[in-house]
Amino acid sequence: MNSLNVQRVAVVGCGALARLMHLPNIRENPSLRLTVVCDVDAGVAEECRREFGAERAESDWRRVVEAEDVDFIVLATHTNLRADLIVPALHAGKAVYTEKPLAAERGEMLRILRATRETGRPVCVGHNRRSSPAVLELKRLLDRARDGECGPATRPTVDRDTGRAPLPEQAQTMIMMRINDDVRSWKDWIFWDEEGIMFAEMVHFIDLALWLHPSPPVRVFAEGSARGNFVMTLRFADGSLANFHHTFVGSFDYPKELIEVTANHVTLSLEQHLEVRQCGLSDEPLRRTFPIDPRSGWARVEGVQDYFAEMESERARAVQENRPARWINVIKGHAEHLDRFAECVAGRGPNPCDVESAIPVNRIAMKFLESVRCGMPVTIGPEDWHLPGGLH
Ligand SMILES: NC(=O)c1ccc[n+]([C@@H]2O[C@H](COP(=O)([O-])OP(=O)(O)OC[C@H]3O[C@@H](n4cnc5c(N)ncnc54)[C@H](O)[C@@H]3O)[C@@H](O)[C@H]2O)c1
Repeated sequence: MNSLNVQRVAVVGCGALARLMHLPNIRENPSLRLTVVCDVDAGVAEECRREFGAERAESDWRRVVEAEDVDFIVLATHTNLRADLIVPALHAGKAVYTEKPLAAERGEMLRILRATRETGRPVCVGHNRRSSPAVLELKRLLDRARDGECGPATRPTVDRDTGRAPLPEQAQTMIMMRINDDVRSWKDWIFWDEEGIMFAEMVHFIDLALWLHPSPPVRVFAEGSARGNFVMTLRFADGSLANFHHTFVGSFDYPKELIEVTANHVTLSLEQHLEVRQCGLSDEPLRRTFPIDPRSGWARVEGVQDYFAEMESERARAVQENRPARWINVIKGHAEHLDRFAECVAGRGPNPCDVESAIPVNRIAMKFLESVRCGMPVTIGPEDWHLPGGLH
């Protein structure tokens, strides 16, 4: 890090996500300077060097790990490259932001964990939805619901509870996540990967469920194809349930993510990171809207209703101008997650998703794969979510 506290960043793996998110996000953060872009395809690395103004391009990641002018590496390859880069990078004093999934094998995760503990250098895992402004609002409301801080008038409009004793189930939390995906939006690699979307993508949502409801998970069950089109259930020790419904025969243009959480007679709903709705917290608004990604700044959208209105207008404009309709991108926390990690590396804040919290997510995703393959529920034990202290 130089005297102005600007961190020198390298991006390894300049594919779709790096070009859409990490490279523009680094360019827009004044405390980060892009020194190196690296891709095994030298032509891609050179193209990104020119487009994003990096100081040099490399095609061998080992040169990035050894580089004196790199403080922090953003690793955006698939899981083909994780511990082999992360471990020596940490030992070389660098911080690492790695894309999810953290690793494809249990042993590899532990190699990364040991290296972070040995070196004290941070690794952040790209479970970026934890940093989405709409998700943070959902979490804030859920914390209030759990505290029983529901404002003055908490009675529902229909109430037949004439003083009966609460049922034990009333202390549980129910979580539902619906992912409306479109197979046509995915690159080929996901279908060649036998672990499919159930692993590569669902770690985001398993991470959210564990973060929203920090009770030990005890059992998982999955039905469907791991590549896409499945239903997954996660049971917690207190009987709470998280249910994940994934379809990839939906339309890409319909809002992709719907999350509903109910606890303590509060219903919370988040739709496509564009709005959060609630009933049960009487001193909170029923609906809050969130802006779209500023890079879709041509669209005027606040909330889901506007999203559909804007899509309608864009479709009409596209026909008139004889071009494809543009996509309205929403804020799922990519820039915010990276910015929070940059603050952590500079010693100004916590790590938004450390390895210790990402390992249980990965292990549970692997248990879902086991369940879908054997067609049976699979037990989760402390060996899946608990990490012993010490180094070895
Ligand atoms: N957080 C999110 O929302 C999000 C979204 C999409 C993808 N991802 C994750 O990001 C990762 C990349 O996904 P993508 O869609 O950008 O894939 P991609 O195939 O478009 O890009 C991967 C890039 O890595 C390069 N690469 C592969 N091996 C390399 C090596 N050894 N050294 C240097 N470069 C190498 C490839 O040439 C390619 O350019 C995956 O792990 C995926 O799960 C995360």
